[in-house]
Amino acid sequence: MVRAVILGAGYVASHLAAGLAKIKKGEVEPYGVPLARYDLPIKIEDIEILAAYEVDNAKVGKTLYDVAVEVFKDTGHTIPEDLKKIPIRRGMHLGSAKVLPVEARGLEDEVGIKEAIERLVREWCELKPDVFVNIITTEEARKVESREEFIEKALKGELSATQTYAYAVAEYVKRCGKAAFVNAIPTPVANSPGIVEYFKEVGAVLFGDDGATGATPLTADLLEHMAERNRKVLFIVQFNIGGNTDFLALTDPKRNAMKETTKSSMVEDILGYDAPHFIKPTGYLEPLGDKKYVAMHLEYISFGGFKDSIYINARINDSPALAGMLTDLIRLGKIAIDRGAAGTVYEVNAFFMKKPGPEGSRNIARSHAYLKLLEWLGLSRY
Ligand SMILES: NC(=O)c1ccc[n+]([C@@H]2O[C@H](COP(=O)([O-])OP(=O)(O)OC[C@H]3O[C@@H](n4cnc5c(N)ncnc54)[C@H](O)[C@@H]3O)[C@@H](O)[C@H]2O)c1
Repeated sequence: MVRAVILGAGYVASHLAAGLAKIKKGEVEPYGVPLARYDLPIKIEDIEILAAYEVDNAKVGKTLYDVAVEVFKDTGHTIPEDLKKIPIRRGMHLGSAKVLPVEARGLEDEVGIKEAIERLVREWCELKPDVFVNIITTEEARKVESREEFIEKALKGELSATQTYAYAVAEYVKRCGKAAFVNAIPTPVANSPGIVEYFKEVGAVLFGDDGATGATPLTADLLEHMAERNRKVLFIVQFNIGGNTDFLALTDPKRNAMKETTKSSMVEDILGYDAPHFIKPTGYLEPLGDKKYVAMHLEYISFGGFKDSIYINARINDSPALAGMLTDLIRLGKIAIDRGAAGTVYEVNAFFMKKPGPEGSRNIARSHAYLKLLEWLGLSRY
């Protein structure tokens, strides 16, 4: 059994909970869950979502079912009744939802930051989650260099919401049991040396940063294809336009810059040189909804100085792609805890994350990372 808490009750949270419930009932196959065909000690059926945390006043106090009604409208897909059992509780805000057209309030606005952290830790000590999944709105944040900076700034309310949640999780682990924190958004957590050090110290597990779902892993594998054939990449452009609230948040230049950092890190890491590139989410267009438009254009020099081009055009359902990855990350979180791991695990991050921690880690092709992950799990490719 693995008990999970979700931070941020939006599109991805709704798809994760709905997809899990349907897989458990045998209504859909576990496609899009990378390790579904392997026999892991924790099964997909073992995942239980206990609660979600939010700051949007219109969502707090409701259930994930209520949120899913909006997310699933016009998709033709049904919403399992099971989502009515997942309550949405109030979390910490720290400005992360400011850019959204919602009225947002955090626990810290009512009782101050120290008491807000304390309340969450007390709630979690009762709920006893094993894994926390962070899928709040993309926020602006800086790296945390040392454990002292982490503790001091968290208690003063000077860190981002994600980093403050990570601090609360570390406190929960100190007092009430083992846990893993999965950071699926660009905020540097697994890439913050101070946070990784503190997690190691308290015996907590950390995966991050920023789930690699649609165009990023595809680009990484394409770059590896070029590198292995010694084709010289002249440039690469890759952009996304979407109509969900995540893309709306990314119209804020500072938040967009966070995504650009996590997405662009792979070019030099994989090719061994920094080919000119433009890789970032480029726009919000409401009618596209959650099915984003992805375009990619790559030019390279082949044998004898001849120039070739690759063009890719795709429409990709954004949130289900991350939800499938999170299904495995929740299981891997529990597996890592049971193995006695502490700090962050590169073998997991390298496959699942756009900017794999710890800081300074190489961003490698996902086809290679997949094999490393299987090795870490003691499995061989079937
Ligand atoms: N394929 C993907 O969809 C994909 C891939 C990688 C990363 N991500 C990341 O996942 C995150 C979630 O995406 P989404 O489409 O579900 O977005 P969403 O806007 O539908 O949901 C995010 C939710 O988080 C809530 N929130 C904001 N600040 C919060 C806080 N401090 N505490 C609790 N809740 C808070 C918002 O009110 C909102 O309901 C984004 O940050 C995005 O960057 C998504």
